[in-house]
Amino acid sequence: MQRRELLRLLASAGALPLLPTLAPLARAAGTNDDWQAQFDAASAPWKSGFATPAGDLPLTRATVRGRFPDAVAGTLFRIGPAGHALGGDRYHHWFDGDGMVHRFVIDCADVRHQGRYVATPKRVAETRAGRHLFEAFGTVPLGVEPPTSADSINVANTSVLPLQGEVLALWEGGSATRIDARTLDTLGVKTWRADLAGMPFSAHPKVDPNGTVWNFGVSSSQGLLALYEIALEGTLRRAAVVPVADMPMVHDFAVTERHLVFLMPPLVYDTRRKEAGASFLDAHVWRPELGMRALVIDKQNWDKRQMLTLPAGFLFHVGNAWEEDTPSGTSIHIDYVRSDNADAVFTTNREVMRARRVRSGADPHLSVATLNLGTGEATQSVLAHEAEFPRIDARRVGLRHRHVVHATQIRDALPGFGAVARTDVETGRSQRFIYGAQAMVEEHVFVPDGSNPGWVLGTVLDFGRQKTVLSCFAADHLGAGPVAQATLPYALPLGLHGAFVAS
Ligand SMILES: [Fe+2]
Repeated sequence: MQRRELLRLLASAGALPLLPTLAPLARAAGTNDDWQAQFDAASAPWKSGFATPAGDLPLTRATVRGRFPDAVAGTLFRIGPAGHALGGDRYHHWFDGDGMVHRFVIDCADVRHQGRYVATPKRVAETRAGRHLFEAFGTVPLGVEPPTSADSINVANTSVLPLQGEVLALWEGGSATRIDARTLDTLGVKTWRADLAGMPFSAHPKVDPNGTVWNFGVSSSQGLLALYEIALEGTLRRAAVVPVADMPMVHDFAVTERHLVFLMPPLVYDTRRKEAGASFLDAHVWRPELGMRALVIDKQNWDKRQMLTLPAGFLFHVGNAWEEDTPSGTSIHIDYVRSDNADAVFTTNREVMRARRVRSGADPHLSVATLNLGTGEATQSVLAHEAEFPRIDARRVGLRHRHVVHATQIRDALPGFGAVARTDVETGRSQRFIYGAQAMVEEHVFVPDGSNPGWVLGTVLDFGRQKTVLSCFAADHLGAGPVAQATLPYALPLGLHGAFVAS
């Protein structure tokens, strides 16, 4: 099949890549289940991390201790699911909720926060109706209507990409959503080219040091992987689709100087399950016999592709990848956060929605894999460090790097993580700061500072005080604790990803 034909297929399916049929398993309209009641009745003090703010959060000054360094003057944008319930009906998965975008405006000893729901067509229609109208990632709510397009169920809740003065709020099943960086107004969906309207655009684009933006999108029902190359000035250079057999859930990827790298866990989309009424998540089947496939695509010639195989495992996130030429061929080194299976996405990240802590038997760990394109051999080593939300110095994307900043410390009694760490993926050495028994750590980002070691910036939910706290650390002295902290007068729902923009 020619690329043009595939692109036409995907674009037409851009109308309906997720769910073509009315879900027969949907509960009858007007009979909300008891998840909201269970959540309300739960005593877990951390449940505020999964609460639903009633509305937008106006610009509010934080209480600052210490002084945020000059290099950290700017704005930290963050986003995450926040609209978890509507009309007494509560979603069954953390990833379902309508996105709320945040900005933390940082200027030395002054920090202000603002949060606004992304006004997606889905949110606008549902808030007007006062009830859920559409299915979500892991939930098929009461009496839902079939989606009219991928963007009709787009919740814009996963990550942000600052681009050309705007911020794109990213989901992965449909379009990016344009956000005004100063007001957080929703400006509408981003259409890269008319024939690509509504196509899937992942929440983890990668920006080369030269400013080129690479991204992908998965059309599960079509078994197609879309590829995007976007110029520094924000214009589309190239887009195409490639077919992938047994299309899995792919949330993140990596770039090297010459390649795009996709680690594909054996969590495979099954169209029949979807047609039988399962949620998008529950339409996926764990098929460990497939292993963890690693698809490597030549950046310049997307027809040059190679598939390698690692032992079966699951991942959401990649830290970084880089390549080197060896006597046996090009070797790609990629670090990622690996779990033995995908149980956590089906259990841990679901049960939190009724304030239950269910620990998965497969905790995620930082792992380093080597893909030898000459021999086809793929190997990996799993480091001792529990991890999620890996971030690197953005100046090293696709280049050899040493350090990954990540959340760490998994606890039996609490969901999420208790510490932030900076780990050297070559030596395995790591330093960490433990926030304490009443903190849930969100993603921390690396902020560069010229040739200095740089800074680490991130938020935690301090559920003991019911406040969200923004902290800044010296990257090379993480264990010494924060050099500055800004405490908001309220707790925010736990978010997913963010990006820092210097002022
Ligand atoms: Fe992510």
